[in-house]
Amino acid sequence: MMRMLETHGLSKVFGGFRAVDQVTLSVKQGTIHSVIGPNGAGKSTLFKMLTGTLEPSSGTIRFAGHDITGHSPHVITRRGLAQSFQITSIFPRLSVLDSIKMAIVARMGRSANLLTRFQDRCAVRDEALEILEQVGLSEVAQVQASTLSHGDQRALEVALALATRPRMLLLDEPTAGMSPWETRRMVNLVRGMAKNRSLTVLFCEHDMDVVFEISESVTVLHQGRILVEGSPDEVRRNQQVAEVYLGNEALDS
Ligand SMILES: Nc1ncnc2c1ncn2[C@@H]1O[C@H](COP(=O)(O)OP(=O)(O)OP(=O)(O)O)[C@@H](O)[C@H]1O
Ligand SMILES: [Mg+2]
Repeated sequence: MMRMLETHGLSKVFGGFRAVDQVTLSVKQGTIHSVIGPNGAGKSTLFKMLTGTLEPSSGTIRFAGHDITGHSPHVITRRGLAQSFQITSIFPRLSVLDSIKMAIVARMGRSANLLTRFQDRCAVRDEALEILEQVGLSEVAQVQASTLSHGDQRALEVALALATRPRMLLLDEPTAGMSPWETRRMVNLVRGMAKNRSLTVLFCEHDMDVVFEISESVTVLHQGRILVEGSPDEVRRNQQVAEVYLGNEALDS
C-alpha cells in the first residue's frame, strides 16, 4: 500500500526545548491514523510542521511522493494536504454556503476570473451544496457562520478543508468541546470521508474511545518522541502507554 505521508527524523526545537524529537512516521494511503499522547506531547507542533505553519528544525516530510519540508501552507494545501481551518478567524460574517463557495473559488485561483460565467457559478454552488450535505450542514446553509453552534462550526471547518479537494486531511482535536452527540456526528463524518472520498486522515484526539474506534493505526507521542505505534488493540494493551497516561492523571489530580 502506498505511503501518503512520511516524515523522517522530524524535530522542532523551541529555544533549547525539543517539542518534537526525531519523529519518523508513515501514514498509509486511505487510512485513518491517529496521533495521541498526553498534554504537551508535541502533537499540535507535529501537525503544524506537516501543514507548513511551523518550519521544522530538522528532518524531512514527504507527501504523495514529494518532499514538502519547509514549504508554505499555501503550497502544501495545493498539493492536497489540508487542515481544518479555524472558521471563526476566516469568514465569520458570511453565510455557511458563501463561506464554502469562497473556499472553492480560492482553490480555483486564477480561473476564478471565469466565475462571471453562469455555468461556472452554478458549478461552484453545486459543489458547495454537496459538501454541506456531506458534513450535515445543509439546513444551516444560509446561517451566518459566526452564529453557528460549536459543533456546527467544527463541521464547517472540515467543510472548508474539503473545499480544497484534499487527498489527505489533518484534524487536530476536531471533537474538542463537543457534546456526546456532536462527537458522534464528527466521528461518522470523518469515517464517511475516509471511505467515500478515499481520503487519508491524520487525526489527533484526546477521546480514547473515539481514537480506538475509528483508527487503523495509532502513534503515541510522549515528550516529543514516538513511544509506541500499532493497531488500536496493540496500543490499548501496551503497558508503557498505560503508564504515561496514568502518570499524567496522577499529576492532574
Ligand atoms: N511556539 C512555541 N514556543 C515555545 N514552546 C512551544 C511552542 N509551541 C508549543 N510549545 C511547547 O511544546 C510542547 C508541545 O506542545 P504541543 O502544543 O505540540 O503539545 P500537544 O501534544 O498538542 O498538547 P495538547 O494535548 O495540550 O494539545 C509544549 O511543552 C508546549 O509548551
Ligand atoms: Mg495540541
